[in-house]
This record gives sequence, structure tokens and C-alpha cells, in this order.
Amino acid sequence: MERSKITLSVIKADVGGWVGHSGVHAALIERARQSLADAGEILVDFHVTSCGDDMQLIMTHRQGVDSETIHRLAWDTFVACTAVAKKMKLYGAGQDLLSDAFSGNVKGMGPGVAEMEFEERPSEPVIIFMADKTEPGAWNFPLFKIFADPFNTAGLVIDPKMHAGFLFEVHDLYENKKILFSLPEEYYDILVLIGAAGRYTIKSVYTKTGEIASVSTTQRLNLMAGRYVGKDDPVLIVRAQSGLPAVGEILEPFAHPHIVSGWMRGSHNGPLMPVSQAQSTPTRFDGPPRVVAFGFQLCDGRLIGPQDLFRDPAFDRARSEALELADFFRRLGPFEPHRLPLDEMEYTTMPEVMKRLKDRFEDIGD
Ligand code: F6R
Ligand code: MG
Ligand code: MG
Repeated sequence: MERSKITLSVIKADVGGWVGHSGVHAALIERARQSLADAGEILVDFHVTSCGDDMQLIMTHRQGVDSETIHRLAWDTFVACTAVAKKMKLYGAGQDLLSDAFSGNVKGMGPGVAEMEFEERPSEPVIIFMADKTEPGAWNFPLFKIFADPFNTAGLVIDPKMHAGFLFEVHDLYENKKILFSLPEEYYDILVLIGAAGRYTIKSVYTKTGEIASVSTTQRLNLMAGRYVGKDDPVLIVRAQSGLPAVGEILEPFAHPHIVSGWMRGSHNGPLMPVSQAQSTPTRFDGPPRVVAFGFQLCDGRLIGPQDLFRDPAFDRARSEALELADFFRRLGPFEPHRLPLDEMEYTTMPEVMKRLKDRFEDIGD
């Protein structure tokens, strides 16, 4: 059934790196574009891009969220791109496709999914954040600042339409549970959870009248696959303006890099560096982790853009700060807090080493 509402779906995957885990080859982007173009009228519009070794399919349509048609299209597109990656012997071809066959919804099958359905406003600015070498919890800090921190978002204080605050849906990735917080009333309670960003992630944010304002990818591949399969390199969609945070309020948390987990071997803490798409190839120690922000104006579902928002020299200082922090962390080498605690490490020799050392441990006594 044709709906009046528009759905914005961002589905992403790493289906092969060029070179190593650093980038996506143009041949894959081209293949993905062709696949989405061939879909004809299923999509209203689409844009294919990449951040580091991850490819994002940004699609608008009228099928609603969790549409089998759209998910199948994304899956088939990634499969087609994997074939190209295999032919070119690109690195880790098909890395994020955890299953051989599509089963109705790409959730749980490897690709990351962020989708929202809404009535397009008279003018509809949206920002799509795409990160590489980090995990979904990376959005907790900026999302809290954007939608709950009056020192970041002036509108929370001075825009009557935002003064009531927002609703936050938080997911517990270990227990597979969700909880809704109402802010600012539960300001301190939510922080107890989302400060532990490896476990609790903000899935979505709503206005107090129930309008969707933001949605992120929350799957953790390593938890799903039970073995190392790379970090999840999340995406985040945020709607802007007219009663929602302004574009500049949405970008402001990135003016000073925060620390996220990921980087080399998905096992290190480091700064999240805001970059333009052209600067999104992580090379130093496979990083540092980075984030690209693409702005679009929707026009009857058409994607007018992208505006590459972190290309602004106003973010040069954030980049310098990130590089200074990167130097600082790198000096620690294999020591925490650069290296993640053992239970968070994706590559770990711990079981093997402990097996070898087991018999050499003696009681210390009193
Ligand atoms: C992190 C990442 C890279 C790889 C590293 C080793 O998410 O993708 O840092 O972990 O390059 O990769 P392999 O084990 O494929 O040689
Ligand atoms: Mg990769
Ligand atoms: Mg990646």
C-alpha cells in the first residue's frame, strides 16, 4: 500500500576493503549504485557513499521500516558488491555478510540498519553520521549533548518547541532489552547507563509528542557472531531544525573529540575525529576512529545533497585535538586505557596465554 509518509533507510556494511581495512574501492560504490538504480520505482531516491572501509546505502522509499523489499534490495546489493570485491581480491570480501541466504530482514545478518518513517515537513533537513573503526556506543555522548545538554543545545533553553525535552530509547546490548527515558526529568538515571557505551546504546530519540528525531544502528557484530568479525562502524540519522536541534547544535558535540572504543583490531580506545568524506580513510594504526556527517534536504523524498558538513575549517581544531589525543594514546602501546580491558577486546590471546600459564600460578597466602 502506498503511504504518505516517507522512510529514510541507511543500511551499511563492510564487504571488502581497499587497501586492507582502510577504504572502499570505487568499483564497489559503482556496483552498488547500479544495483539501486536497477531497483527502479521501489526507491524514491538513493545515495551511495563510504566512510573508511564501510559502504552506506542511503535510501528513501514509501515501504516503511523493516520492509522486506528494501532489506532484500540492500542485501542483494551487498552480495553483488562482494562478488566484485572477491574478483578484485579486495580485503575481507563479504566480511559483514554473516549468512549465506537472506531471511526477510538484514537485522542480525551483519549489515547495520538505521531507519525512520515520518511525515516530511515543509522543509526537512536531515544529517547522516557515518563512523569507521568504532562501535554504536560512540553516539551516546553526542546524542546526549544534542538532545539533553543545554550547554550544547541553546534551543533546549530558548526554543519553546524544544523546552519540554526529549524521550530516549536505550538498548541493553547484552540482555537484548530496551527502556524509555524522559529527559530532562531522568537526566541522572540515563547517564548511569549510557556512560557504559559498550553495553547501553541510545537507539532512538523522540519528541515528547512522539515524533521520531533520531535513530542509530545498534547491532554489535561481535556479540552476534561470537567471534571477531570487526567493529560495527555505526551510522546515525538526526532530523534538524524547526523544533528539533539546529544543524549547528547537532554538529557541536564533535567540536571536541570524545573517546570511543575501536581503532586497531577493534581493541583500542581513541578519539573520534570528525572528517570530510575525502578524509575518511583511516590509516594511522588503522585509525584514529572517524566520523563523516552528510546533510540532505528532503524534497518529496528526494535527497538534495550531500553537504559534507565536517569539511568546514571550523572543525580543523577538532581534528588537531584528535591528533594530539591520538599521539597521547599511542604512547601507551599495549597498556590500558589505550588498549581495551580484556573483556572488551575483540582479538584476544588471553585464553591461550592463561592456558599456558595456568600451572605456574601459586597461592600468595595471607
Ligand atoms: C578494526 C579493523 C582493523 C583490523 C586490523 C587487522 O576494526 O578493521 O584494525 O582489525 O587491520 O585485520 P586482520 O585481522 O584482517 O589482518
Ligand atoms: Mg574491514
Ligand atoms: Mg569499518
